[in-house]
Amino acid sequence: MFFSTTLVASFLALVSAAPGNPKVLTFPVTKHHENSKFAQHHLLHNSRPDPLVITNQFTYYSINVGLGTPIQNFQLLLDTGSSDLWVYNVTDTADCAYQACQQTGQFDKSKSSTYHSLDEDYFIQYVLGNATGYWGTDTLSAGSVTLPNFQFACADNAEGQTGILGVSVAGSESLHKGQKPYANFPLALQNAGYIDRRVYSLYLDQNDATNGTFLLGGVDYAKFNGSLTVLPLATPNAFFVDYKSIAFDGEQVAEAGAAVLDSGTSFTYIPDAAYQKIAKKLNIGDNTFFGMTTVDCNKDFELEFNFDGVTIKALKEQMLIPSGLGDCFFGLQSNTLSQNITLFGDTFLRNAYVAYDLEDSQIGLAQAVYTDKTDIRPITGPLK
Ligand SMILES: *[C@@H]1O[C@H](CO)[C@@H](O)[C@H](O)[C@H]1NC(C)=O
Ligand SMILES: *[C@@H]1O[C@H](CO)[C@@H](O)[C@H](O)[C@H]1NC(C)=O
Ligand SMILES: *[C@@H]1O[C@H](CO)[C@@H](O)[C@H](O)[C@H]1NC(C)=O
Ligand SMILES: *[C@@H]1O[C@H](CO)[C@@H](O)[C@H](O)[C@H]1NC(C)=O
Ligand SMILES: *[C@@H]1O[C@H](CO)[C@@H](O)[C@H](O)[C@H]1NC(C)=O
Repeated sequence: MFFSTTLVASFLALVSAAPGNPKVLTFPVTKHHENSKFAQHHLLHNSRPDPLVITNQFTYYSINVGLGTPIQNFQLLLDTGSSDLWVYNVTDTADCAYQACQQTGQFDKSKSSTYHSLDEDYFIQYVLGNATGYWGTDTLSAGSVTLPNFQFACADNAEGQTGILGVSVAGSESLHKGQKPYANFPLALQNAGYIDRRVYSLYLDQNDATNGTFLLGGVDYAKFNGSLTVLPLATPNAFFVDYKSIAFDGEQVAEAGAAVLDSGTSFTYIPDAAYQKIAKKLNIGDNTFFGMTTVDCNKDFELEFNFDGVTIKALKEQMLIPSGLGDCFFGLQSNTLSQNITLFGDTFLRNAYVAYDLEDSQIGLAQAVYTDKTDIRPITGPLK
């Protein structure tokens, strides 16, 4: 695995309470390009019929987290599609061969005075691969945040080379055989009084931006126009949202369906029939590269995702990703590549401002406005 060092190097481990507003936390999110190997995690949760999926190809977003005393540093993939935090065990020399985990981190319990083993196995099943290890607790540090006895898993066998910070709903943790529920990251922050409400928003900025913002406990009103349209989650245990249609160049290509809003997925996977119609209109051939379709970067199109009350325009600049070889990767794919699950990943999310309300099982959605301005206000009650 190879991270483009120019993109990784500028990361600052900065997590801070917004000035004058102790109940809001902003975490910088760093965008990574992974050029040599496309990590692909498909998370299949055993406790529900609908698999939760994190697919990560080509790019991913990470935040910095410290674990232990003294602090061991990690860059973790920020995932709205799962609920656990896990890191690589220092003993995992196979997955982390060739210093693959040097930047993302490996946990060494013998170097932490505050680590406690829970004597419980950790196991999470992916469609491709899985992660296994042990549950434990230790102090989690992230800038101004300190969470003693935070429960996380330490994996000694897992696909990819980065641990995961799952921030999805409580109740979706990968617990087995009577393992006790625990407070995952958003819930632990609330329990410790850092935020009033388990609500957060993710602003990924434009495709060419190197970082975005993960805002907990509040909403940044400068990052969208008008108001957020509040939509209920289609299922309470995952970020599945109903959409009404998908339109391409003014023509409806997909009828109503449900999609996962998943920051852990780089691309957007739509129903196959809709994808085929679009591919035909764009005259996209079978030119694929690691499952990604290449397209002329000069193609122009209008792509719209219609929800009940709001339309998100997917801008060409966010959907066409320069391949580095003169052409572009198309940010849409057929969901036959994602177990027929429709996933609105980063190529969709970069166009939208999304506020996730974990307490009322709803999301707020609006077209993103790309700006450095901020207007952050805490959220203490339901979005609507
Ligand atoms: C993004 O990174 C740049 C360069 O490191 C930095 O100047 C800027 O403040 C960062 N923005 C955010 C939102 O973290
Ligand atoms: C987990 O993945 C490993 C390969 O990394 C495989 O050998 C093993 O069978 C998988 N376990 C399960 C239960 O799927
Ligand atoms: C890391 O793996 C080793 C076995 O290789 C195990 O003894 C140790 O407890 C693991 N560490 C953690 C924190 O789970
Ligand atoms: C937001 O509003 C501003 C000012 O009215 C306008 O210039 C801009 O195009 C709008 N952006 C979006 C994404 O609707
Ligand atoms: C996906 O749906 C197609 C029909 O559209 C079906 O042939 C295929 O078996 C399905 N794949 C999975 C993994 O469910």
